[in-house]
Amino acid sequence: MADRTAAQQERLDALLQEKRTFQPSEEFRRQANVSDPSIYDRARRDLEGFWAEEAKRLDWFEPYRRVLEWQAPWAKWFVGGKINAAYNCVDRHAASHRRNKAALIWEGEPGDSRVLTFGMLQREVNRFANVLKSLGVKKGDRVAIYMGMTPELVVAMLACAKIGAPHSIVFGGFSAEALAERINDAAAKVLVTGDGAWRRGNIVPLKKNADAALESTPSIEKVVVLERIGKAANIAMWPGRDLWWHELMDQASDHCAAEPMDSEDMLYILYTSGTTGKPKGVVHTTAGYLLGTAATHFYVFDVKEHDVYWCTADIGWVTGHSYIVYGPLANGTTSLIYEGSPDYPDRGRFWDICDKYGVNILYTAPTAIRTFMRWGTEWPAKHDLSALRVLGTVGEPINPEAWMWYHEHIGRGRCPIVDTWWQTETGMILITPLPGITATKPGSATRPFPGVEAEVLDENGRPVGPGAGGYLCLTKPWPAMFRTIYRDPDRYVRQYWSRYEGKYFTGDGAKVDEDGYFWLLGRVDDVMNVSGHRISTYEVESALVDHPAVAEAAVIGRAHDIKGQAIAAFVTLKDGTAATDALKDELKQHVARKIGALARPDDIFFTAELPKTRSAKIMRRLLRDIAERRVLGDTTTLADPMVVAKLKRQYEETGQAE
Ligand code: PRX
Repeated sequence: MADRTAAQQERLDALLQEKRTFQPSEEFRRQANVSDPSIYDRARRDLEGFWAEEAKRLDWFEPYRRVLEWQAPWAKWFVGGKINAAYNCVDRHAASHRRNKAALIWEGEPGDSRVLTFGMLQREVNRFANVLKSLGVKKGDRVAIYMGMTPELVVAMLACAKIGAPHSIVFGGFSAEALAERINDAAAKVLVTGDGAWRRGNIVPLKKNADAALESTPSIEKVVVLERIGKAANIAMWPGRDLWWHELMDQASDHCAAEPMDSEDMLYILYTSGTTGKPKGVVHTTAGYLLGTAATHFYVFDVKEHDVYWCTADIGWVTGHSYIVYGPLANGTTSLIYEGSPDYPDRGRFWDICDKYGVNILYTAPTAIRTFMRWGTEWPAKHDLSALRVLGTVGEPINPEAWMWYHEHIGRGRCPIVDTWWQTETGMILITPLPGITATKPGSATRPFPGVEAEVLDENGRPVGPGAGGYLCLTKPWPAMFRTIYRDPDRYVRQYWSRYEGKYFTGDGAKVDEDGYFWLLGRVDDVMNVSGHRISTYEVESALVDHPAVAEAAVIGRAHDIKGQAIAAFVTLKDGTAATDALKDELKQHVARKIGALARPDDIFFTAELPKTRSAKIMRRLLRDIAERRVLGDTTTLADPMVVAKLKRQYEETGQAE
């Protein structure tokens, strides 16, 4: 793995030492949704048969003719089937013994809470589906959603699904400009937003950001605004364009038939950061996606009928799409949603919520776990966590120390941990333990899910041996795989399917050990992973050079104890600009304004020159070595090795460059 970073090398070295294993307890195994390891062989021998069997967990309006048509890289799953995702997530449960079962338990940050049963959720979804129709939204039209974590966000998504209008959700932490960019790429017709959302006691100004975005989004005809905050949000409503959610809902009918969708009709677009260029619109389709998320949710989390399941992600990211909304609700599971921050009003909020609702399954991110570790064990110790049965993690590699802490202080030694590897593009969990079968090792995502085939390859496409690092690739299609990049199929082919003919290139480094366990090493491309958020170096660099003082910028993710990676920017200023601390702050602010606070650089270093190859390519690998205070890697391809040597010296002497 030629471009393996020093940090990955270090993780690899450390992981090679990890020998602890944790077997599922006999008690857990006995009650598990799957405890027979033959599921792996069964799926390997007959991939289509395996998924056809799983497809019975969904209700189809018309049966499919073929399970799979695969001409790499183009996949069609459940060809010819007719199905509706909202019908499967809501209506069929509302018509069953689950009618009065909680579908959503919602906890607002200020402490207010609501429960929506499947019956109630159905009424809300139908009403909002009718609202969308009344605003002129038709099957195939895109609807942008920019909301906080309230039940109405789920209602809006499912209403889109019900009438066959793909949603494009933009995380509420993104800026006006980022929102506009995503709305325009999708050419969305309607925007659904809120007057604001609560976050750490502050108001997230969703509507104000939306207003700024809407100055340059010609496709948007109407804006629906949910009142969450009230007067304090201090928003303006544009006559003719902006409409209140509650006023529209009051007039809408409770009845709405589900649109029969083709299996391969688009369910949603979700934008994510790539190596180069603008964020790309990952396209997920209906049947395969819903089935993949439902099946993995059932097996990986071992959900039972009466479980309360809590995934702490934001619905603005894929984890929320797949494992707060579609997977759990398709399974008729009670899904908990929390609006706010884990440290509000105090650092025990998550454990208070687990205690209050008797959460059985908790799914969170390594960054959160590392933060809880730093806050100390006294916070979880104050609460009754005895209902917890399964713990999950996602979003970034988990270090064995955090894994052990989660195991001891949250799972109290009792709960299997499922470290789940997947991506926006994969739609569903692909590498994961099955808690009733798999012996876990702290820091390893263990094995591919049944039917999923993964390989770790070297530069030339040959599998590397046990213990060596390489590139993680997937060699068989899976139902929830993304089908393309919205309006950019070439990019789909080029970026994911061209490095190794007919194989999906994940962008992650990995190793496989002697037992066939996978250990994820982090991204091998220019995508950073900051607190589990995916940000490209390119986006932050573009935001920096957009500032009038900046001539050139190179951005890297440097290793960070809590966040996984922190954003460090090396910036050259235009002639005559003074390199001041005030300017650093201004640049950080500028990036936050352009993209969102999640992309704000942690460090900015001013430098007269950046290390470049003879073909003028910036060598970020060396900047990473500098920021992580390591010995510099190979510098022989540099145009002027003195530049990097000087930069390193300055950095070490002053904690910053000149
Ligand atoms: O680098 C991997 C990391 O997150 C990337 C995908 O990010 P995103 O599309 O935002 O989706 C995140 C949630 C599914 C991957 O390329 N990643 C995700 N889960 C893990 C992980 N790295 C290591 N271990 C994981 N369990």
